[in-house]
Amino acid sequence: MSSTITHVVVPGTFDPVTLGHVDVIRRARRLFPRVTVAVASSANKNGCGTAFSLADRVEMIREALALEGLPDDVGVESFSGLLVDFCHELGAGGVVKGLRAMTDFEYELQQADLNSHMAPDLESVFVMSSPTYGYVSSSIVREIASMGSDVSILVPANVNARLRAHYAAEDGPERA
Ligand code: PNS
Repeated sequence: MSSTITHVVVPGTFDPVTLGHVDVIRRARRLFPRVTVAVASSANKNGCGTAFSLADRVEMIREALALEGLPDDVGVESFSGLLVDFCHELGAGGVVKGLRAMTDFEYELQQADLNSHMAPDLESVFVMSSPTYGYVSSSIVREIASMGSDVSILVPANVNARLRAHYAAEDGPERA
């Protein structure tokens, strides 16, 4: 029998981190003694990159975890390349992701299958999203914030402030 898993990775693009992500990270930390949040560079996401730079996404998560009262032993690291390679580099034994609705399931199953083919030693563990955050996604947050509406019930306070600044700066030249 292989050894008990003590270190897991919670991967994602986190563009930006939402309260739904924080909930999944918190629950991963309840299940496993060591958790690393792995922020993918996702440079080609949707063919047009991410709204926030990799450094900004990492910084926002670090600030958010402190604000939301997560233990300071939860690590936050960026990676590019394959998730399974990054897990091996860290010595992590598994990946934890949140599942919101059936719509998430096929995509997550495909990724878990692929990862399992590439690295049979890694476990994929899924936690069901809290009903409070079942509808929250980074793309919905970006869409609402880009239209100038408040997303303070969907994201940590530091992310709300960053979103306001981000979209205010984007609107600036057009209005001038
Ligand atoms: O927040 P997301 O965009 O759903 O996260 C997806 C992520 C970053 C976990 C996934 O795209 C990923 O693992 N990317 C790293 C590249 C990789 O390993 N791809 C093969 C597995 S599908």
